Amino acid sequence: MKALVYRGPGKKQLEEMPKPTLRDPTDAVVRVIKTTICGTDLHILKGDLPSVAVGRILGHEGIGVVEAAGSGVTRFNQGDRVLISCITACAKCEYCRRGMPSHCEQGGWILGNTIDGTQAEFVRIPFADTSLYPLPEGADEDAMVMLSDILPTGYECGVLNGGVKPGDTVAIIGAGPVGLSALLTTQFFTPARIIVIDLDANRLEVAKQFGATATINSTDGQAVEKVMAMTDGKGVDVAIEAVGIAATFGICQEIVGAGGHIANIGVHGASVTLHLEKLWSQNITITTRLVDAVTTPLLLKTVMAGKLQPKQLITHHFALSDILKAYDTFGNAGRERVLKVILKNE
Ligand SMILES: NC(=O)c1ccc[n+]([C@@H]2O[C@H](COP(=O)([O-])OP(=O)(O)OC[C@H]3O[C@@H](n4cnc5c(N)ncnc54)[C@H](O)[C@@H]3O)[C@@H](O)[C@H]2O)c1
Ligand SMILES: [Zn+2]
Ligand SMILES: [Zn+2]
Repeated sequence: MKALVYRGPGKKQLEEMPKPTLRDPTDAVVRVIKTTICGTDLHILKGDLPSVAVGRILGHEGIGVVEAAGSGVTRFNQGDRVLISCITACAKCEYCRRGMPSHCEQGGWILGNTIDGTQAEFVRIPFADTSLYPLPEGADEDAMVMLSDILPTGYECGVLNGGVKPGDTVAIIGAGPVGLSALLTTQFFTPARIIVIDLDANRLEVAKQFGATATINSTDGQAVEKVMAMTDGKGVDVAIEAVGIAATFGICQEIVGAGGHIANIGVHGASVTLHLEKLWSQNITITTRLVDAVTTPLLLKTVMAGKLQPKQLITHHFALSDILKAYDTFGNAGRERVLKVILKNE
């Protein structure tokens, strides 16, 4: 089968790889119908994630059809159409039972990380019963792919961890697919103002269409001053970091107001400076989280009800065999005006 293989920092190849087989009774092998590329895949290719070994098939998002189900799988049969969660959950270990499957002792975020992932014609899914969801009848396939990772990520790591409340002023730093997912789902809680900050004019334009009440292009390095001016010097209630670099975490520390929250989403490959000398007296909280994808059922219902329209995030379509072109497009967001790409296994 064809698969996108990580070959070390800066290197990836579309290669012929052996088709996965059932290894444990709780496994399913899924034929991928649609998958996508995540900002995290770009971090992997930068060398930010040492857990990813050379030779790994990347990808942790997608939908597919069950090709084979192990003898221990009770909820899925061959031919069932499924949504693949980026988080694999055994549902039995301490972390799973505490509602934190991101740290599942035998799972967590392993797809396209420590085991082969979804940017391939087939993928092996461990603990299929508790790591796959049935695709609802009539579901829009492309929209469903957004539920594998980015919507739960924006919602859980950004909005829920940030404790967004009605009337809040929320700032989202980073208007990539994850930041925009936080923008869409923060509106469940009717914040009064949502300020979105990015360097990319096109993404800021999209943010306005998605409900941002103000946008700031931080290319001039004046984002902090602008946010403070917009908030009468008070700062924001919730600052959501959706980039994953020191500079943007720095912005969050400068714009968070007294009693506020910094909710980090970004995958960081380098250390940041924590300004406790300024923050110690400000009654703030800082949260970090690897997405647990425990809100997927809730988000699935809001999508099926038309209350959330993640399809808006999809800008480009490619065949899976054109994945190198798709990476090139996704990696040049400014030039290509790309948000999320859909790769179809034809
Ligand atoms: N915590 C988790 O579980 C989890 C899950 C998925 C993704 N992530 C991470 O979330 C982050 C966002 O993901 P994405 O797919 O939207 O990535 P992306 O790369 O598409 O988007 C990042 C955005 O940040 C903007 N940006 C870059 N430098 C900036 C700066 N100095 N100031 C302002 N904006 C800047 C870019 O223009 C871009 O729009 C990534 O770090 C990704 O790895 C985390
Ligand atoms: Zn991801
Ligand atoms: Zn577990």
